[in-house]
Amino acid sequence: MFINFWYAAEYSDRLHSEPLRVRILSHDLVLFRDADGKARCLSDTCVHRGASLSRGKLKHDCVQCPYHGWRFDGEGRCQAIPSLGPGHKVPPRARVDAYPTEERYGLVFVFLGDLPAAERPPIMPVEEWGNEDWRATLLDYYWQANYQRVIENGLDPAHNEFVHPTHGMSGEDPDYRVNELRMNEEPWGWSFMHTYRGTSTKSFLTRFNEKKRVPPEAGTGHHGPNQMVTKIHINETKWLHQYIYETPIDEFHTRGFLINMRNFVLPKILDRAVSKRNMLVAEQDRVIVERLAPRRTPRRAPTELLMPADKIVALYRSRMREWEDRGWRIDTEALNRVRAQGDVVTVIPSPARRERGGWVFDPAPLLAGEAEAGDAQRPQIA
Ligand code: FES
Ligand SMILES: [Fe+2]
Repeated sequence: MFINFWYAAEYSDRLHSEPLRVRILSHDLVLFRDADGKARCLSDTCVHRGASLSRGKLKHDCVQCPYHGWRFDGEGRCQAIPSLGPGHKVPPRARVDAYPTEERYGLVFVFLGDLPAAERPPIMPVEEWGNEDWRATLLDYYWQANYQRVIENGLDPAHNEFVHPTHGMSGEDPDYRVNELRMNEEPWGWSFMHTYRGTSTKSFLTRFNEKKRVPPEAGTGHHGPNQMVTKIHINETKWLHQYIYETPIDEFHTRGFLINMRNFVLPKILDRAVSKRNMLVAEQDRVIVERLAPRRTPRRAPTELLMPADKIVALYRSRMREWEDRGWRIDTEALNRVRAQGDVVTVIPSPARRERGGWVFDPAPLLAGEAEAGDAQRPQIA
């Protein structure tokens, strides 16, 4: 899991006048909406004696801790310590980490890391959002799977014919193959498009594919470690673009937010059918991905046998190594060790940690960066 990226934390319309707890990157966070309507995100553990702030209340535009009533504003600064009495001065260490937020596409995104604003990787944009020729639907799902395995499944062009019988295509057809992937390097990842064989049976997609002037095309791309888009161009005019923000709850649990954009069957009345279809397909993936072994993608040694159709998976893994080399990867083994030894609180470091010291809780351990292993340890394609 990586710090220094944006994560979709919750639907915007679930943020009201109560604090809301979410768990991301194995750390608890509290979300709330301040008096100006801005979404706020703080580390959930009170620096006084460890209460969960999300069990508190919103008071005076702050989260009030449920235990002794300390009040923390949207920047994480403590504004009041009631036990000190009227007119008291709050010590500067009375502060919790606060994380930048953005609301887009009906979601609250939080930036979990300490990079200053100018250096932050952007949120993957939904290019068609707000375009009246397109219709959006939004859903989420929980999987008991590592988020990287989930993304790799989404990037994979060779599983559809086996995992998704509903697509009406079969990998058992004698002339089946995955056509060449046309790769594109993107600022924060890789993408590809390729042509795929049309459906061999009449399916949901073929019903909208009557013209067949061009072969159907599809492809995917990742943006950072946890965001991806799949583009399905059934013909020249009927397109589906599916934007997925995978949020690692922890190493083995993932919440995915899917924004499905379509430029056909636009009436709102069809939204439910589209989402139902999305969930059906996601279920077909889930049962495979939750049983992969090892549960996490091999981080170092190439212990899998990759083929040309896995090219984007290999490139995605290479990018992960680059971000690891920047020192952005959480050392989950070390984290598990410190948590097992004692009941230790760690936090995701926030941008304010670059400006001042004196924090009560230590940051989560990060891998040191600069690969110890050479190129031979990088993902290879057979
Ligand atoms: S634990 Fe939060 S105020 Fe005491
Ligand atoms: Fe799939």
